[in-house]
Amino acid sequence: MISVLVEGDGHSGEILGLAHPDHWPKGKRRLSQLRWDWRRARLKEIGRVDIHIIGGDMVDGHGRKESLGLLTTDLGEQAQWAAEAIAEVKADYRYFTYGTPFHVVGLMKTEDLVAREFGAHPRVEWAIGPLHGVRILDRHSIGNSAIPYGQGTPMWKEWVRDQIQAVMEDFKAANLQIRHHVHWFFEMRNAKGCVVVCPTLKFRTPPDGSGSPYPWGLRPQYHDIGFLLIEIDRSGEVYVRPQIMPMKAIAPREYICPSIKGNSSADRAR
Ligand SMILES: [Fe+2]
Ligand SMILES: [Fe+2]
Repeated sequence: MISVLVEGDGHSGEILGLAHPDHWPKGKRRLSQLRWDWRRARLKEIGRVDIHIIGGDMVDGHGRKESLGLLTTDLGEQAQWAAEAIAEVKADYRYFTYGTPFHVVGLMKTEDLVAREFGAHPRVEWAIGPLHGVRILDRHSIGNSAIPYGQGTPMWKEWVRDQIQAVMEDFKAANLQIRHHVHWFFEMRNAKGCVVVCPTLKFRTPPDGSGSPYPWGLRPQYHDIGFLLIEIDRSGEVYVRPQIMPMKAIAPREYICPSIKGNSSADRAR
């Protein structure tokens, strides 16, 4: 069995992003500690893997107006925090994929610094394989969908595009497509292969807007925290084992009812 551990979207440097809990101010470490401990325990259980794919957005970037949501604007420090988290994964081979330019490109490509810690250099896409006959293509971006049941459309688009491009440009299409960026886990398969979207390692923005203002736009339908363990057996069968942090975001909605005289609902609101 060949094991591939896939993660990304750690957004280190952001208040909600992945980093060792010591990087948070004292008294504000509880959530980050829970996430760090959960991931460390899962990684210990999984043990050493053959391949570690780090699919981009491992740092949050300089932020501009979003710097309000950063723990540090020092990109060197963000890269260091990301590298510390990545080093927790024991792997024989590591592949770094560039993330969204907004987060990872400033005056420099911050992910170059992260990868350098491991003697590696990121690429926009990695074509890995064949692994027991399976060809992987990892890229960061994929289209999002606000339609509650629409997640498969951008995923299958990536699949079909690769099939067409393979014919036009005379290469072998990948039969395991991996994407990141949208911060939810989804998997789609047909008889010929599989498309999978990796969850994020960053917490969801709470209703009070803590963290960066970047995700204040259209609210996401899904948000999954964790990573993927993918195993490929000798016959080329692909087992996707999502490692999702068991957490329930309790964000009760409390309506504010101003005291407007004559409001027929005022009594019921109390
Ligand atoms: Fe991201
Ligand atoms: Fe992204």
